[in-house]
Amino acid sequence: MNNAGNLVVLGSINADHILNLDAFPRPGETLTGTHYQVAFGGKGANQAVAAGRSGANISFIACTGDDDIGERIRKQLVSDNIDVAPVSAIAGESTGVALIFVNGEGENVIGIHAGANAALSTDLVAAQEKRIADADALLMQLESPLESVLAAAKIARQHGTKVVLNPAPARELSDELLALVDIITPNETEAEKLTGVKVETDEDAAIAAQALHDKGIETVIITLGSRGVWASEQGKGQRVPGFKVQAIDTIAAGDTFNGALMTALLEGEALPKALRFAHAAAAIAVTRKGAQPSVPWRKEIDEFLSQQG
Ligand code: RIB
Repeated sequence: MNNAGNLVVLGSINADHILNLDAFPRPGETLTGTHYQVAFGGKGANQAVAAGRSGANISFIACTGDDDIGERIRKQLVSDNIDVAPVSAIAGESTGVALIFVNGEGENVIGIHAGANAALSTDLVAAQEKRIADADALLMQLESPLESVLAAAKIARQHGTKVVLNPAPARELSDELLALVDIITPNETEAEKLTGVKVETDEDAAIAAQALHDKGIETVIITLGSRGVWASEQGKGQRVPGFKVQAIDTIAAGDTFNGALMTALLEGEALPKALRFAHAAAAIAVTRKGAQPSVPWRKEIDEFLSQQG
């Protein structure tokens, strides 16, 4: 155990079926892939793993099915330094599944079967009230039922636990939920969904960030792919570039960024240094295939950073 604050992640667990192809198939077309892999994924689990491997004190509220892969995922999460006491195996349900195509440019398209993730109910959240109340931060995404995300955010706010929302995949959200969020980390598409502002330039990002500040969110971090992030604290924003690497697979790059960002913030780093740490973790992740197989450990992130100018 280190001296960092405690993190609770609430989110999804998926088994990712990943097929690499030179190009995405068009409707009606069948293509043979170049590589197939089943890997552990799910935005919640990926972010939890990124936090665990990079050194956070973390527990994870989530659901698997009562199946073999759910059990294997649970064991893997334990070896990734995650407290899985609040991970429930749901009787009669299957573990969530993501079907993923990755093209030659490393881009992906994803279809999801929620499975047991849909069973993460407000009752399960209420059962974790003390854990959320005792934590320093709660990190969530949007692959879990929205009413449960809202319930957890309310508990956190009531007890002074910071609410961090990675609003992925893109969904419209109520002002009630957004007003409970302290830090939000949308990508360009998600920022547009939440604000109506198409984010193509830094100026657009600043406008979208202000719209999110106006909803009551103190810190807005809009991820801009290879251009880095737009980071805005209480209305003062700047673009923070990432590291240039040869990307082969961007699955879970955003998740890795979010998990590592939380580790650094909970170790007391100021935002610029925390963003550098998160950028480094994500840069390593895009050079590797798959979701959780691509997530780096702390030693790898520190080594990467020490090699930069
Ligand atoms: O963000 C990447 C993740 O999205 C994948 O691991 C997949 O499971 C989907 O949830």
